[in-house]
Amino acid sequence: MDKIIGTVNGIDFTMGSALLELSYLIAALLFVFGLKLLSHPETARRGNLWAAGGMLLAMITTTLLHKNANGDGIPLANVWIIMAAIGVGSAIGWIVARKVKMTAMPQLVSLYNATGGAASALVALLEFPNAQAGDIGSLLVTILGLIIGAIAFSGSMVAYGKLDGKVGDIMAGYMKYINVILLAGTLALGAYIIISGQQPDELGWAIYTLFAAALLYGVLFVMPIGGADMPVVISLLNSFTGIAAAMAGFIYNNEAMILGGILVGAAGSILTLLMCKAMNRSLLNVIIGSFGGGGTAIDREKGIIKEISLSDAAVLLSYSQKVAIVPGYGLAVAQAQHIAHELDTLLEGKGVEVRYAIHPVAGRMPGHMNVLLAEADVPYEKLVEMDDINPDMPNIDVVVVIGANDVVNPAALDDPSSPIYGMPIIMAHQAKNIIVMKRGMGKGYAGIENFLFFNDKTRMLFGNAKDSLQKLVAEIKSM
Ligand code: TAP
Repeated sequence: MDKIIGTVNGIDFTMGSALLELSYLIAALLFVFGLKLLSHPETARRGNLWAAGGMLLAMITTTLLHKNANGDGIPLANVWIIMAAIGVGSAIGWIVARKVKMTAMPQLVSLYNATGGAASALVALLEFPNAQAGDIGSLLVTILGLIIGAIAFSGSMVAYGKLDGKVGDIMAGYMKYINVILLAGTLALGAYIIISGQQPDELGWAIYTLFAAALLYGVLFVMPIGGADMPVVISLLNSFTGIAAAMAGFIYNNEAMILGGILVGAAGSILTLLMCKAMNRSLLNVIIGSFGGGGTAIDREKGIIKEISLSDAAVLLSYSQKVAIVPGYGLAVAQAQHIAHELDTLLEGKGVEVRYAIHPVAGRMPGHMNVLLAEADVPYEKLVEMDDINPDMPNIDVVVVIGANDVVNPAALDDPSSPIYGMPIIMAHQAKNIIVMKRGMGKGYAGIENFLFFNDKTRMLFGNAKDSLQKLVAEIKSM
């Protein structure tokens, strides 16, 4: 037995347990400062490393210093198994993260999220037999961890399938009634397990039924939500995973797990609400709505589509004073961020002021454009938030819309029948000239027509964004 070195609030501390608590405190600080650093693109990489360092510290100290109630540490054989599992998991994570394309990042996030949910649900399932009948507190955290973790796991797997185009939407109206009944049944069974007073070994049937019901609910909950709303749903499921991990932390009475879980839960919830706000929709509307289902805009004169030649575009841009680039999902697909940066540097060399107008939901994941442009070393000062650049739009000589569609669609302002009505947009239509780069007349995420393309001031430069930009840069250089 280790020597007791002190007692705080009736709890005895040995050197090992004191060091363990200290390491949790340091890990918690690293999580919090890491999160803080994540709030700015320039410091985000460092923030990620800090938080990962905190997690590594907590894993190592728990494995080496944790003792059970009898004062026994983790057996050496198990320590090796844990280390091997951490090694294999880290290697897979490293390889997958290095290989993933920027456009497939939401899928990767949902897969990671699914594993977090599964881990928390399995902790609850494995620890249930050790719970004491009548101990409402520990049964409550176990049951909540199981339900929320299982929903996060199966829901994230369906979200992954949808984002990857492997699973379609099933939007049948009756599904919401089935879901409500299933959720009520799951919660009722959970409540029964907690208050029945029966010993866990008598409730084997109930706990496995609960696990299955929660898994099924996760699938049916995500199935009817439009593929277009998946990033919001992933963020919501991410917060579920955090809450489930916090519950697992309560089961083990482990402060690092509780705090890490709460931080993920809170961050996921805040992000979900911010994304809904940026699309001007309520969370309920995302969950039961049908955004992206191809709604029709009001009847109005389309006008004609006018194209612009490369040489005209090059002249127009070179002799402008103020240019704003509006990047969108198509820029990400084309991986055109580097050549876009080359264009802005070239124009700045000619004395043109170039800024990027960033819409909060441009692309397919939060901060998508910021991440892409940071990857291409575009200075952060050049990225201007929608609300900051919009008032200056009438003074901008040319807006260059690169692979963006919904985020510049004026239907959001003036067409109450449009599914994006009410969503704040970048006011590209107010600029003096508009150049739109896209491959053809394809629709955006919301599946609707964009009358900006028919605007008198708009000229289209058709083609893959990267190819068009390369040709444009070459044209400007040759002037
Ligand atoms: P979108 O409205 O999706 O439009 C993208 C456009 O890019 C398409 O119209 C497409 O037209 C064009 N495109 C595709 N590939 C291209 C390529 N290789 N080269 C050039 N153009 C290409 O994009 P957006 O304006 O960024 O709007 C984002 C949408 O996603 C919004 O509706 C938003 O609500 C939704 N959303 C975003 C998030 C987050 S967090 N960012 C979350 C949920 C939903 P062509 O086919 O004609 O080329």
